[in-house]
Amino acid sequence: MNVQVLAEAQKRGHEQVVFFNYPNVGLRAIVAIHNTVLGPALGGCRLRMYENESQALDDVMRLSEGMTYKSSLAGLDLGGGKSVLIADPKMSAGRREMFLKFAECLNNLNGRYITAEDMGTSVADVMIMREISKFAAGFAQDKGGSGDPSPFTARGVFQAMLAACERRYGSKDLKGRHVSVQGVGHVGMFLVEMLKEAGAKISVCDTNEAALREAKDKFGVNVVSTDAIYDLDAQIYSPCAIGQTVNPQTIGRLKCEIICGGANNQLLDSSMYAPITERKMTYCPDFVVNAGGVISVGGEYNQGGWNRTWVTQKVMNIFNTTLRVLDESDRRKRFPEVVAVELAKERIKEAEERRASVRATASCGSSKSCANGH
Ligand SMILES: NC(=O)c1ccc[n+]([C@@H]2O[C@H](COP(=O)([O-])OP(=O)(O)OC[C@H]3O[C@@H](n4cnc5c(N)ncnc54)[C@H](O)[C@@H]3O)[C@@H](O)[C@H]2O)c1
Repeated sequence: MNVQVLAEAQKRGHEQVVFFNYPNVGLRAIVAIHNTVLGPALGGCRLRMYENESQALDDVMRLSEGMTYKSSLAGLDLGGGKSVLIADPKMSAGRREMFLKFAECLNNLNGRYITAEDMGTSVADVMIMREISKFAAGFAQDKGGSGDPSPFTARGVFQAMLAACERRYGSKDLKGRHVSVQGVGHVGMFLVEMLKEAGAKISVCDTNEAALREAKDKFGVNVVSTDAIYDLDAQIYSPCAIGQTVNPQTIGRLKCEIICGGANNQLLDSSMYAPITERKMTYCPDFVVNAGGVISVGGEYNQGGWNRTWVTQKVMNIFNTTLRVLDESDRRKRFPEVVAVELAKERIKEAEERRASVRATASCGSSKSCANGH
């Protein structure tokens, strides 16, 4: 076995990586806690039949690190974490037992990590864990939870898009602007509704015929094929389906001036920074743009419980955060995604320094003589 867990944790800055193995209920899980300086590590639970352990480990470590930056930039008092369960996402027999066991594991971590729905898991799974653990979030609204995060994610994408327009065109008026939306699922459909209200010209694609019909019937959008979406003369490209759609095969085809969407990991990797910059495209980093979901889910842990006004205010602030990232990107002469990570780390560092200073003052107060002369 050549899985260098500690080396990887050191490279990425993880605090803790925990493995859970309960073969009697089919539970093989990894929880990665990246950073808890700002608060408990919140991040979804992914259920997937990984090809091997290294692949699962790589996924959970990468995703948990991303959650740290997403929550930090969203101004949440939450850290970053993620979990992966290595099993068939379609499993039904024994599913309940497996999630109850995982809930026990969460209790074992005593709130350092809070889980939520993610790829392969559902609100039903969250509700099972919730039976015995308060460290599973994103549950039904009629049970006091935050409900579907998608409308908040879409609202955040919309706010980021307005900020990008303000920056690029000096106006956040979307009237007549051509926006291409890739994927009209939970997030994409809500986004299309807002774009329609704002008077944008909308083109969409999806692999799901029913979703396309709904978008066309309700909002009169222009429907194109999943391949043709890259060749449109849209000013704004909004990926809201799958990751890595901005890649060497598509970048030369995209004519947009702004990339701003809800999908995670929109760029193939950092090799896309140069072609995006050369084409003078305004790139809004995905984890800044799509933070509405984590804001809503995280809102369940506020004192007094989930509160729509608080969540909405935080989501609306994605407008300011996007502007700040784009401005700083210009000032620091670095790609927006790089700057967004820098800003997220700076907030964590400031919190760490504040905490250290409080500790120092407290220890000065409790000792008779203090080297600082206090
Ligand atoms: N739901 C949230 O609150 C949330 C929060 C943060 C990030 N995201 C990310 O946003 C994206 C969309 O999330 P969602 O909840 O709307 O998912 P979803 O599954 O409801 O919607 C995705 C849509 O994309 C379509 N699709 C799949 N492959 C496609 C392709 N090749 N071309 C065009 N369409 C395709 C699907 O048919 C579906 O309609 C995902 O990447 C997700 O990780 C979602």
